[in-house]
Amino acid sequence: MQPPVASPPPIFQRCDRCARYPYRLREYLGRALWEIVQATLIRYSPRRASGWRNAWLRLFGATMHPGSAIRPTTRIWHPWLLEVGAHTTLADGVTVYNLGPVRIGEHSVISQDVYLCAGTHDYRQPHLPLIRSPIVIEGGVWVCARAFIGPGVTLGRNAIVGACSVVMRDVRTGMIVAGNPAREVRPRFEAELDVADETDAGSHRGERQAA
Ligand SMILES: CC(C)(COP(=O)(O)OP(=O)(O)OC[C@H]1O[C@@H](n2cnc3c(N)ncnc32)[C@H](O)[C@@H]1OP(=O)(O)O)[C@@H](O)C(=O)NCCC(=O)NCCS
Repeated sequence: MQPPVASPPPIFQRCDRCARYPYRLREYLGRALWEIVQATLIRYSPRRASGWRNAWLRLFGATMHPGSAIRPTTRIWHPWLLEVGAHTTLADGVTVYNLGPVRIGEHSVISQDVYLCAGTHDYRQPHLPLIRSPIVIEGGVWVCARAFIGPGVTLGRNAIVGACSVVMRDVRTGMIVAGNPAREVRPRFEAELDVADETDAGSHRGERQAA
């Protein structure tokens, strides 16, 4: 005798009930214009023309501090939700999927093909409403190649995220994390003193020599 075939559970999520236009009209218009600019004037700009790219980003509402740079193949969804600190670079192939705000501090490096994902869906509701959670990357952070940074994550000052890591939780100040899911490897510095020594080296070297 054949065992009874269990009927599959009913499908919970209803894609036909998802909001078809979850953004304001202004955002759709801005994004359409930005996509044209990004696919042409940004994409085919000379590699070193970061001033040109920053000017376009600022025109579309991004906050680009002096010395910050994106590369021609960096992809940004909503420039008006992006802030990049002084002397911070977003490398080739980086995707900033900034449905929510993305704020990156000064002297940070976002290496090749990193994915910053500042958005998700509430899967507990059948119509999967959009959640636009911010990402904050503080100053002095290095996000190594191909890492994925999830919605709502904060990377503390001076942290390092290893290559190809998946980060779904906040990273503590000065910590190296790696793997999927990313786990703490070790602190970047032996002690807080190391940071002070390095950053103040220029200003204190003279004093030490004088003493
Ligand atoms: C994160 C990183 C900088 C750390 O370098 P490091 O201090 O020399 O680290 P180590 O090689 O001593 O590794 C320490 C431990 O973390 C692990 N680890 C390091 N990076 C890892 C990664 N990306 N994913 C998973 N585990 C990793 C190592 O396997 C090692 O584990 P073990 O102690 O069990 O053997 C480096 O591993 C990295 O990811 N570099 C990426 C370079 C890059 O992106 N270049 C392109 C842009 S310029």
